Amino acid sequence: MKIAIGSDHGGVDLKEEIINFLKSENYDVKDFGTNSKASCDYPDYALKVAEAIVAKEFEFGILVCGTGIGISIAANKVPGIRAALCSDTFSAHATREHNNANILALGARSVGPGLALDIVKTFLNAKFEGDRHQARIDKITAIEKKYIK
Ligand code: RB5
Repeated sequence: MKIAIGSDHGGVDLKEEIINFLKSENYDVKDFGTNSKASCDYPDYALKVAEAIVAKEFEFGILVCGTGIGISIAANKVPGIRAALCSDTFSAHATREHNNANILALGARSVGPGLALDIVKTFLNAKFEGDRHQARIDKITAIEKKYIK
């Protein structure tokens, strides 16, 4: 499975831990940066990963910033992206099963590395349930279409 990952400076250490974990599990992972602790802007990395996902170059994306909030808000501006900020494993499987989330967002300052890796594993192993959930996602897509100029 191909995974795209990105972070700002606030998420760079956790991103590295996640990359090491994904490689140890034989996931095919591409790091979209940042790769330093110098202050940078999370929308830049959200956009790189989100565009790679909508281009279908990767199955899922993972985005990390200090809280996970800014980077998920930015990613969700790209039509076709359903980025879910998760800080527990229940939400991580529920967002795959119900929302067909294609990006997992994490807050490096709010979730420790052990829990973050459990959330990543749970997200990647859960399956979308379709049916009534697809109809609701279709309504999200209709909202996107209404506002795309
Ligand atoms: C960077 O200081 C911080 O604002 C960012 O990582 C994130 O938490 C934004 O939502």
